[in-house]
Amino acid sequence: MPLFQPLTVNGVTLPNRVVKSAMAEGLCDALGHPSPGLAKLYGRWSAGGVGLAITGMATVRQGYSFTGGEIGLHSDEFVPALREVTEAVHRHPGKIFAQLNHAPPQLPRPVAQKVGSTAPSAGFNKTNLLWNRALTDEEIRGIARDFGPAARRAREAGFDGVQLHAAHGYLMSRFLSPLHNRRDDRWGGDFERRLAFLAEVFHAVRSAVGKDFPVTAKLNAHDGERGGLTIEDGLRIGQRLQDWGIDAIEVSAGTGDVGLGFYPNKGGMPVEEGKKWLGATFGFLKPVMPVMGPFIKVASRAVALDEEAYFWPLARRFAEELTVPVFCVGGVRTLKMAKRILTESRVAAVSLARPLVRQPTLVRAWQKGETPEATCESCNRCFVQVGLGERLRCHLRPGEEA
Ligand SMILES: Cc1cc2nc3c(=O)[nH]c(=O)nc-3n(C[C@H](O)[C@H](O)[C@H](O)COP(=O)(O)O)c2cc1C
Ligand code: SF4
Repeated sequence: MPLFQPLTVNGVTLPNRVVKSAMAEGLCDALGHPSPGLAKLYGRWSAGGVGLAITGMATVRQGYSFTGGEIGLHSDEFVPALREVTEAVHRHPGKIFAQLNHAPPQLPRPVAQKVGSTAPSAGFNKTNLLWNRALTDEEIRGIARDFGPAARRAREAGFDGVQLHAAHGYLMSRFLSPLHNRRDDRWGGDFERRLAFLAEVFHAVRSAVGKDFPVTAKLNAHDGERGGLTIEDGLRIGQRLQDWGIDAIEVSAGTGDVGLGFYPNKGGMPVEEGKKWLGATFGFLKPVMPVMGPFIKVASRAVALDEEAYFWPLARRFAEELTVPVFCVGGVRTLKMAKRILTESRVAAVSLARPLVRQPTLVRAWQKGETPEATCESCNRCFVQVGLGERLRCHLRPGEEA
């Protein structure tokens, strides 16, 4: 399928098959209020030719922001400002989906110390070095319910669809993992019960937005962790999502516990920024920071970007076994590869993240034949900066946000 051919997702027609994958933007205040920069950023991406922009993970519940700068969808008060964001996108042919997330159990230590470190099961939390408390049945139902109004607000604000963040080790993803979900009740114990939370969220969202609104998911094909989600389970979950009526699936992999959290966005591990993050998150680690270098180097071997489109083999399998559109994300860097993915497999769209921070108008340049490849170095500095509470920007374009 040609890259610049439209793709229709539950009645919404994307002008082409290049998706801007979710990236936390760091352009909202701690409560989730968007700054004017957010509308400008999405307007720039849409003007730059992306067929669909998916927002960074938006909060469905107050107080659970991972970076301190994510979009809030937990209150009606955000709707007017978010309408400006969607209007900025709709001045161009591109569309915009909101990504919905609940960040525990991967909250940074300072946030988790305030709101509690919670997870499907009790245990040691490698992200914040705290002890996770297992969520109660009532809490689980309450969180799943919160996704419904958040999706309704997204629709009211003019978003064209939503994406459930069921990847990378956040709550939906953790419930799916046999390693992290060791419950023995209606939310865990076997494959079916581990799926129950995602089912509850999906149905809450679907009933809030109706049948005619795209509800999609970003799903881990596998977790990259021994004992975690396997590709066979990932495919079964994809099948189940399809049976429920999901409208598209973006296939990713990895969690915060693998390669210091860089597995989904393979590439460089910026040591200086990394030390800053560790220092800000774990003050007590400051004295040992000078000797952290070798540890970071070993972890970075697990996530070196050694091949382009590193998750294509996973997305390809999903696309072979499912009929819903499958998006391929992770390390796509050249126009040639983007075209190959669509012509040599049944994948429906190609997603890019970091290259569009470096070059917000890359898609238009590809379409005009002006440039064959992205100039992003996959150094991941933008990733760590956002984790430090800064706005999304490329260090190669100082002074400018994406
Ligand atoms: C700064 C930054 C923020 C990110 N935030 C999110 C996010 O909020 N939700 C999500 O699903 N993935 C997030 N990701 C992962 C990307 O969506 C994508 O899966 C990953 O970067 C691989 O694609 P790429 O090689 O084109 O960058 C983020 C990545 C970066 C670099
Ligand atoms: S900082 Fe720039 S070059 Fe480095 S990964 Fe981010 S966008 Fe790419």
